[in-house]
Amino acid sequence: MQDHIVFRPELPALDLLDQRLLPMQECRFLCRTTRDICTAIQTMVVRGAPAIGVAAAFGCALAVREVASLPDWQEALDKALDTIAASRPTAVNLFWAVKRMRSLWQEEAARPGLTPDRLFDVFTAKALELQAQDIASCMAIGQAALPLIHPGDCILTHCNAGALATAGYGTALGVIRAAFAAMPGITVIADETRPLLQGARLTAWELHRDGIPVTLACDNSCACLMSQGRIQLVVVGADRIAANGDTANKIGTFGVALLAHHFHIPFYVAAPVSTIDPTLADGSLIPIEERAGEEVSCIGSQRIAPEGVPAYNFAFDVTPAEYISGIITDQGLLTPPYTQKIAALSLA
Ligand code: MRU
Repeated sequence: MQDHIVFRPELPALDLLDQRLLPMQECRFLCRTTRDICTAIQTMVVRGAPAIGVAAAFGCALAVREVASLPDWQEALDKALDTIAASRPTAVNLFWAVKRMRSLWQEEAARPGLTPDRLFDVFTAKALELQAQDIASCMAIGQAALPLIHPGDCILTHCNAGALATAGYGTALGVIRAAFAAMPGITVIADETRPLLQGARLTAWELHRDGIPVTLACDNSCACLMSQGRIQLVVVGADRIAANGDTANKIGTFGVALLAHHFHIPFYVAAPVSTIDPTLADGSLIPIEERAGEEVSCIGSQRIAPEGVPAYNFAFDVTPAEYISGIITDQGLLTPPYTQKIAALSLA
């Protein structure tokens, strides 16, 4: 699936599959302005670290068109790009994408006669390139993982690190897709992933559509399933990986990693190198998004906890590098200890 993020330069607009409504409805959400892009990212019309990065890159192109008629358009664009970068705090791909656009803008500004039209074309071309690159990265991750998987393995994944969370194919689900294509008997357990149910709504939907056998499980059944010998491998995505390999991913990932460690089950992170943030020495420095408590105390519009009871809603947790058996990247498999291997990667 690659049609969940479609840029329409003739409008111009970013045409997104609205992931909030899946799997019950397949509706589109059209972003025409910086504000629309920020709303789409904040409310999770589009979500997942690489997908947010790609959407933000197209958002930068839309921002150019939005400010084009202003006399001080470059000043307004500067603010718009800051606004896009501030839409969610944890996934580093968002800042990475906006930074790439900013450096292109600097290059263009160094030449005489920069116009909004020219910059729109430059941003659009780069965003399309990032989108295509992300799909290629996911496929490379899938291939790099093949030696780690055996016929008949049941792979547990948490949240959705699939085609929907990337430009297409997926990171953790890219690993699963590649394994399913290469060997017999691959099956998947998808954690439902409270509170927004990305596992139940999105991972199960994607895999079921592809004919990959998937069984849904409550987040809290992981220890039981592992103790029964039902899981041979865990593969998850990442929102940000620090310089020492500590990894932020969807809340609950750390618990899964601890259980995998207890049961001697390999626990892998699958991510493109654009998810690595070499500026942060360790995971304690990764900003963790805290979302509205109502996402926990309500299901849709239905309250499930008494009025007046607050709820914790950290969107991500950090798995320390010591619990990660390997980080599967588009530049190959990294094994522990990670610090020097991460430092040796070529990071744009
Ligand atoms: O809050 P979300 O749905 O954006 O969180 C997504 C995740 O945690 C994914 O596992 C991560 O972004 C990797 S996506 C390839």
